[in-house]
Amino acid sequence: MAESEQTVAVGDVSRGLVAVNDYVVGITRGEYFALTRWCRHSRGDLARGSIDADGCLVCPVHGARYDVRSGRAVDGPKVPGGGLIKRMMNRHPLERRPVDVEGETLRIR
Ligand code: FES
Repeated sequence: MAESEQTVAVGDVSRGLVAVNDYVVGITRGEYFALTRWCRHSRGDLARGSIDADGCLVCPVHGARYDVRSGRAVDGPKVPGGGLIKRMMNRHPLERRPVDVEGETLRIR
């Protein structure tokens, strides 16, 4: 396995978000995703967050919402100035990594 590759069991991801080193792995709308684990606002641990009804990844700290397909914030943190903070966060969207399904294993490339 190349240094940058990391794996997680499909079954673990089917039960919720999973931390894999510096990535959060999950599934929304039938698609697996792997994104940078640390919220662009104040480094909240997105692996402790949730997926909302719109399929967005929600930060557990101040509620910023991310589009898992782009890594961009669709809503900023629920703090004063959240709109401005969102624009700053989107200067550096969460990194998205490809996820390969290999049987019962997901491989983050
Ligand atoms: S740390 Fe994620 S919204 Fe504040």
